[in-house]
Amino acid sequence: IAADAGIGPYRAGELFAADGSAVDRRIFVDEHLYRLEQERIFARCWLYLGHESELPVRGAFFTTTMGEDPVIVLRDKAEGRLRAFLNSCSHRGAKVCRVDSGVTGAFRCPYHSWTFSTEGQLVGVPRQDAVYGSTLDRSRHGLREVPKVESFSGMIFASWDPAAPSLREYLGDMAFYLELMLTRMDGGTEQIGGVHKWTIDVNWKIPSENFAGDHYHVPSTHGAGVEMGYRSQLTNHGYCIQTGNGHSIGSERGGAQQGTAVPTEYDAFMARMRAEFAARYGQDAEAFVPIGVGTLFPNFSFLDSARFRSFRVWHPRGVDKIEVHSWCIVDKSMPAELKAAVRQRYSLAFGPGGIFEQDDGDIWQSVQDALRGHIGRQGRFNYQMGLGREAPTSERYGTPFPGSCSDILMTEANQRAFYRHYAKLMQD
Ligand code: FES
Ligand code: FE
Repeated sequence: IAADAGIGPYRAGELFAADGSAVDRRIFVDEHLYRLEQERIFARCWLYLGHESELPVRGAFFTTTMGEDPVIVLRDKAEGRLRAFLNSCSHRGAKVCRVDSGVTGAFRCPYHSWTFSTEGQLVGVPRQDAVYGSTLDRSRHGLREVPKVESFSGMIFASWDPAAPSLREYLGDMAFYLELMLTRMDGGTEQIGGVHKWTIDVNWKIPSENFAGDHYHVPSTHGAGVEMGYRSQLTNHGYCIQTGNGHSIGSERGGAQQGTAVPTEYDAFMARMRAEFAARYGQDAEAFVPIGVGTLFPNFSFLDSARFRSFRVWHPRGVDKIEVHSWCIVDKSMPAELKAAVRQRYSLAFGPGGIFEQDDGDIWQSVQDALRGHIGRQGRFNYQMGLGREAPTSERYGTPFPGSCSDILMTEANQRAFYRHYAKLMQD
């Protein structure tokens, strides 16, 4: 990005150091930039909506948001197709669906009772003849449909941009790693225990960049958890991979050992998985099970640890607030008692009241708090760690794996990649 490229009222050079080593504090508090993000990032990028296992039958739906735009995601009655619609009535804007999820034949708006099919068509208008005569053309008043909805290994994504590249293209090399995480067992994955939702008073980019691979915070922010023996002490041995388009992954090789009170069958299960993996990709690749943490630009993150897998979306709710949606993901063919153990470990560590989740949320809110004043929003955050130490992942680890990778775990290369992509999308 040229330093003099415009980003709303700013020049790129004001907001970002040319080498990516510093980011202006205003990008986390500026209302104007926040509105621009809604337009240039959330109305353009592929965004994660939910898991296919949440829509098991025709007529099944759930509600969520794309950026701040509320959407209904469903499997339509006619063909069983995955679709998404703006959750706002074509009459005068009320949300036509007010619940989190369910199965339905149609959506009746609570304001004046216009009714819409699962294909988005306006199919019912109370007293139509008496109040509209022949003047209302129903065919022009369907729900606004999200033009692009696709799924990848059970993950449903959508984009408001009719000209967006295919999902596969958008994922790029990240698709390879998502597949490593999601296709370990035959039969695919599913979410269990429903979607956990809570709010944190923080700008959405702070958790996105944290999950991109901020290992530096672990011994400090999560120090108590380490001291209690809840997870192993972090070493600097691991990888941070950038796969392009602002997506990235970071991991301690072989995964953090989180918690001890799990059935030993689970360790046996992971060991078996690693062995199968090594047979497929070579001995060095074994340490890529589990994958680690990662962020798919802009606001989808995952956590693939030695004990559980979680997906989360950091939905923006104003410049200084997010609504977190979090899923516990398991392999469908896992034995039931292992699924239960996984769910328990997820809840204890990263559920809404999870030890590590609480550690992170508390610190993130303090970051946002310190940005509220006139002085606090001046100056820049530092992202210089590990600058210039990246090389192709395949060279670094002797794997066939794509992307670019550092020789150390503690680096801010992933965050730099995140903001580089951010600046590219935000420029005028
Ligand atoms: Fe939906 Fe009037 S706003 S029927
Ligand atoms: Fe953390």
